[in-house]
Amino acid sequence: MTRNAYYVTTAIAYPNGEPHIGHAYEMVATDAIARWRRLEGREVFFLTGTDEHGLKMVQTAQREGLSTRELADRNSQRFRDLAAALDISNDDFIRTTEERHFRSSQEIWNRMAAANNGDIYQSTYKGWYSVRDEAYFDADELTDGEGGKKLAPSGAEVKWVEEDSYFFRLSAYQDRLLKLYEEQPDFIAPAERRNEIISFVKRGLQDVSISRTTFDWGIPVPNAPGHVMYVWVDALTNYITGVGFPDDKSEQFKTFWPADLHVIGKDIIRFHTVYWPAFLMSAGLPVQKRVFAHGFLTSEGKKMSKSLGNVVDPFAVVDEFGADPVRYYFLREISWGQDGDWGREKFVNRSNADLANNFGNLAQRSLSMIAKNFGGQMPPRQLGSGEDNKVIAETILAIERMTVAMATEQLHEAAAELVAALSAANLYFAEQAPWGKKDDMARMGAILATTADIVRRAAIAAQPFVPTAAGKMLDLLAVPADQRQLEHALDPDLFIAPQTQLPPPEPVFRKFEQAKAG
Ligand code: MSP
Repeated sequence: MTRNAYYVTTAIAYPNGEPHIGHAYEMVATDAIARWRRLEGREVFFLTGTDEHGLKMVQTAQREGLSTRELADRNSQRFRDLAAALDISNDDFIRTTEERHFRSSQEIWNRMAAANNGDIYQSTYKGWYSVRDEAYFDADELTDGEGGKKLAPSGAEVKWVEEDSYFFRLSAYQDRLLKLYEEQPDFIAPAERRNEIISFVKRGLQDVSISRTTFDWGIPVPNAPGHVMYVWVDALTNYITGVGFPDDKSEQFKTFWPADLHVIGKDIIRFHTVYWPAFLMSAGLPVQKRVFAHGFLTSEGKKMSKSLGNVVDPFAVVDEFGADPVRYYFLREISWGQDGDWGREKFVNRSNADLANNFGNLAQRSLSMIAKNFGGQMPPRQLGSGEDNKVIAETILAIERMTVAMATEQLHEAAAELVAALSAANLYFAEQAPWGKKDDMARMGAILATTADIVRRAAIAAQPFVPTAAGKMLDLLAVPADQRQLEHALDPDLFIAPQTQLPPPEPVFRKFEQAKAG
């Protein structure tokens, strides 16, 4: 039996700058997954937050003439604001500078230090470090940049560092990690990423440096004056802090750990599928169940960069279009797990076609005809009508296919199924032409009731994607709050009761204009 609790997380972003559209994308995708699980009736805990330690934060603050804490406070709030603007349903927001997280990180450190006669040992680190990636690199991973600079695979400059450091015995975990990937084939998704990680681990793992001594913006290593934890040790630990660690006897921890899913971007997959499970194994804690690495977003086909001036501000986009259409674009237009693009023209086309024309019009046309011809009271269906039964059965099948797609978080496929069901319903509506049935009001009513029922089912299933609009549609259909779960969309015998008085219809989705050329 699968457990009912479900714990899902986003990566925690560095608040060294304003959030961009890539951060918005990750929040929205994870939110749609969390909402879908709730729709299925699961007890969800959804965590997001900010990753506030490390040299990158220190250096950015220096450049901006702020204290590191001021920078962290200011920008962390912007990530919280973004979550609110996008209608993200997170249950908690963690900051790694919080006291609870210090306790948690020090406890996992102590457990790792105590494990296997010491998975943590002291030595000297000599090697390359990229501040932008907050990551160490081997010489053979680097390329030559301008002016003799050495570059990490991300293109960020690396610097040679030599310092006294604690190390984690990652090399001892190679076999256990390979066994994990074999025994849990869905531990890493998508599959291409899994193959990459397996071959990386098979090439052999080196121990990792996990403390720094050249700055103090971090969590102190227990009993080691002058050492702060390497930012990734404390960053990854947020996932257990968020559910109550170090109190691992607490109800919350027992209910939600191990996490069902960490959603992250493809650039940080090694940290999540190699380091993190090894840390957990070392500390004697259960390993998370799955990691999904999504792709990267570009802006109008180009990599986003401050120098190109094409970094898309998610607040501006939400201000202009509203959260639902932006969410929908991310979820439908970008194949989950692949790279994708934010493009304004594509956005307007997608939103107008699928939301305003397909979904919105079907609701608006059927509901205004019910208002006009039946005083806003839901007319009865005609039980024997094959056409009506067929289109309802098709809708239910499409929602079942959405459920299958969502079992492996295939967000864009689930969204596509929904839209296909609505297209079929639009076709039914056009063929049945209820406006021409003035001489057979029973038939007109049955067509409208059937269509309204499809809108009800679709709106229930659409809630994880476009929560506000879907909720509004369900209000317009007078669907009670306790009948908005997935089971109510799939139940072949559940309909809006005839005679139910509906509120006056109003449009739910706007149509957008393309930007004028020139
Ligand atoms: N702080 C680390 C994560 C620690 S998780 C324990 C970090 N922060 S980040 O701010 O650089 O990135 C946060 C998330 O946003 C990551 O999952 C990253 O992959 C994702 N993205 C960053 N740029 C992105 C795009 N351009 N497109 C899509 N996602 C992107 O890494």
